[in-house]
Amino acid sequence: MTPIPGPKGPPFIGQARELIADPPRYISHLADEYGPMSRFGFFGTTFYLVADPDLIREVLVTQAANFPKDDRDVELLSRMIGHGLVTANGEEHKRLRRLTQPAFHTSRVDAYAGTMVAYTEAMLDEWRDGQELDMAEAMRELTMYVVARTLFGADRAAMRADDGATGRIGEAIHALQDIANQEFTAPLVLPTWLPTGMNRRRRAARAVLYDTIDRLVAKRRASGAADTGDLLSMLLLARDEHGDALSDAEVRDQLVTLFVAGHETTSNALAWTWFLLAQHPAEEARLHAEIDAALPDGPPTTADLPRLPLALRVLKESMRLYPPAWVLNTRRAAADTTLGPYAIRRGDLLWVSPFVMHRRPAWFPDPERFDPDRWTPERERALPKYAYLPFGGGPRVCIGNGFAMMEAHLIVATVARRFRPRLLPGVVESLNAQVTLSNVDGMPMRLERRQAPPRP
Ligand code: HEM
Repeated sequence: MTPIPGPKGPPFIGQARELIADPPRYISHLADEYGPMSRFGFFGTTFYLVADPDLIREVLVTQAANFPKDDRDVELLSRMIGHGLVTANGEEHKRLRRLTQPAFHTSRVDAYAGTMVAYTEAMLDEWRDGQELDMAEAMRELTMYVVARTLFGADRAAMRADDGATGRIGEAIHALQDIANQEFTAPLVLPTWLPTGMNRRRRAARAVLYDTIDRLVAKRRASGAADTGDLLSMLLLARDEHGDALSDAEVRDQLVTLFVAGHETTSNALAWTWFLLAQHPAEEARLHAEIDAALPDGPPTTADLPRLPLALRVLKESMRLYPPAWVLNTRRAAADTTLGPYAIRRGDLLWVSPFVMHRRPAWFPDPERFDPDRWTPERERALPKYAYLPFGGGPRVCIGNGFAMMEAHLIVATVARRFRPRLLPGVVESLNAQVTLSNVDGMPMRLERRQAPPRP
């Protein structure tokens, strides 16, 4: 068997200092330096970085049952979003996935397109030429309203009328992410019952989120729990093999999971897309030309999407450079096995990182360069599977993959048809690698209204 190489570091601390300073770039450096498998240490725990498409297939697909999510990750994520699809393992995961999948069938997701475009247009109607705003925040609000409406039936106008609710939810999610991040990088994680400042902050933030979700559920139950076809009614009507319904707590945790997983990621992908377009005016001009030709009369519908291939390539390239899920949850080997020429022992902890894979020069020459033409059909077909994996892979592949791609595609076209967001001076990339990948300073931008396209 081939030994797994890695850097040397001080005992116990290992590579903690480098990892805390800039995790995505540090682990990319490990792959550059040590190849397909490398070893690093973090406060007394050893991790293995898997940086090869074939080995990743083994972990996520072929041997998926032997690589569940690690207990520590599950515990820390559960503290944030409860016990839903993201944090379940084994049989429990299968059951929840079965129950949730119907809400994400293509036919359903297509039906959500109208809401996605209507809510984007409503946001654009409020935008003014020359206005300065944080695009990261604007995208977060927009994608939050889309999830709330499409999956839970909550209306944007009603949420906005509820004085300050939108801001409170945003702050609560930020606080939860921040705490999760501190715990993920801490040498020791304290129990939740201790009266620490962190635990108090988390309880307060969770209360805001739970309150929102509980009110949605109560309203729906009060209306007779009719099947409106959205995810919430599916969950309320679902019965297991014994005919039992999901408990209120189970429904709530599932909703909180989808609410958080369903908008933070997409909004980060969009914020980075505006960041990249603003810095690449030639690509931006090509995008505008495509949009103006494809959408002379108004915002897009799903029928227009095939005529907007560059918009999709821009998005794929943006998620290559800045994959919102920059590292998958840690996987733990349930039994001894091998990955290619490497021996893996029971209990070994593995990292798979889209950020690392997306910058391997073997598949993405000149990897730092923004080049949407990497995603022409021919060039995309030439890539090995799992060289590009913004949505993970195997039985735990993102359930919202199709939803997110359609939503982001529609939003890019709808926004770029009417506005050209410019970066404010001094805004630079500074990676904030928490559970999702954002920019430290957000995305402060100034809006330029575009002229209506000339009629053909
Ligand atoms: C650009 C947007 C998105 C990205 C980049 C993304 C990325 C991912 C990734 C990488 C995973 C796998 C994590 C792992 O294996 O450790 C995942 C899982 C998941 N995602 Fe997404 N996601 C996005 C949008 C969404 C949306 C819109 C929803 C729901 C509306 C969603 C819900 C979920 C759920 C529930 C899981 C857990 C699935 C399971 O374990 O069975 N995501 N996502």
